[in-house]
Amino acid sequence: MQQRPAILVARAIFPEVLERLRQHFEVSYNGHDEDWSPDELIRRLQGKVGVLTTGSQRIDATLLRACPQLRIVANMAVGFNNFDVAAMTAAGVVGTNTPDVLTETTADFGFALLLAAARRMVESEHFLRAGRWDRWAYDLFAGQDVHGSTLGILGMGRIGQGIARRGAHGFRMRVIYHNRSRLDPTTEAECRATYVSKEELLRQADHLVLVLPYTPQNHHAIGAAELAMMKPTATLVNIARGGIVDDAALAQALRDRRIAAAGLDVFEGEPKVHPDLLTVPNVVLTPHIASATLATRLAMANLAADNLIAFFTRGEALTPVNAPQPQAGAPRAAT
Ligand code: GLV
Repeated sequence: MQQRPAILVARAIFPEVLERLRQHFEVSYNGHDEDWSPDELIRRLQGKVGVLTTGSQRIDATLLRACPQLRIVANMAVGFNNFDVAAMTAAGVVGTNTPDVLTETTADFGFALLLAAARRMVESEHFLRAGRWDRWAYDLFAGQDVHGSTLGILGMGRIGQGIARRGAHGFRMRVIYHNRSRLDPTTEAECRATYVSKEELLRQADHLVLVLPYTPQNHHAIGAAELAMMKPTATLVNIARGGIVDDAALAQALRDRRIAAAGLDVFEGEPKVHPDLLTVPNVVLTPHIASATLATRLAMANLAADNLIAFFTRGEALTPVNAPQPQAGAPRAAT
């Protein structure tokens, strides 16, 4: 009997997805969800031709050199800033992500953070739980309106468009956006979104949502200078990646009320959170859960698994992020 390809599942996943993988592969599994160091990951990858990752395992030139049999890395995430794509392409290793299946769920969560931050839901809930609510007051936790306001979106891919549709159609917001490239007129019309410069976006948005991928070029794309351009009544929401916002500068801006509020699902250096953010009241903090509904996380895990299965059965991944497609079965040249 032909030997089945050996793969590694680098983090705990749904049992039913693991079972599907076991029908096709010899699976090594991080069932205890241990936090492996880069060296340990390399050790576990020896002899493996594929790996299912979750976005927190870095795939770089050092790892690729040390794992010459590796052919495909299937990320259970739409973002793939844990990949050194150029090094993977050069090494003939395919990377895949999980687009589309999480778009609407993530857009829902972006809107939830926006509403929670602008309407001060978490801050007021803490106040109530602490037993400090003793009377109605005209200005008690008065926040900012969302309906009818100006929604700014930085990064207008699928999730950005989902946020725009919710804002424009559900909340009658004026939608402005900035992106590397302008959307085609049909998509702009569907989203009722107007393209503006980054500076106009910062100056005009009542609520600004960040949905751009992390790249070294947009490291701290929102820092002290950008925050200073925003309205003092503005809300900032980050559901993109840590590192796009300078968290220390944001904490200072929130403390000084240079902007009104923020909602953050991602952090530079997560799961560590900048200590200053933990001490300001006008920020809603969540632990990177924008795509976390059971249905969507299952769809993401299945798509990652399907990428591995398709690659080894048909020689082609379903949602690759890079071009190399060496013949399935052929060993990758050691680099
Ligand atoms: C989550 O952050 C993802 O990229 O899917």
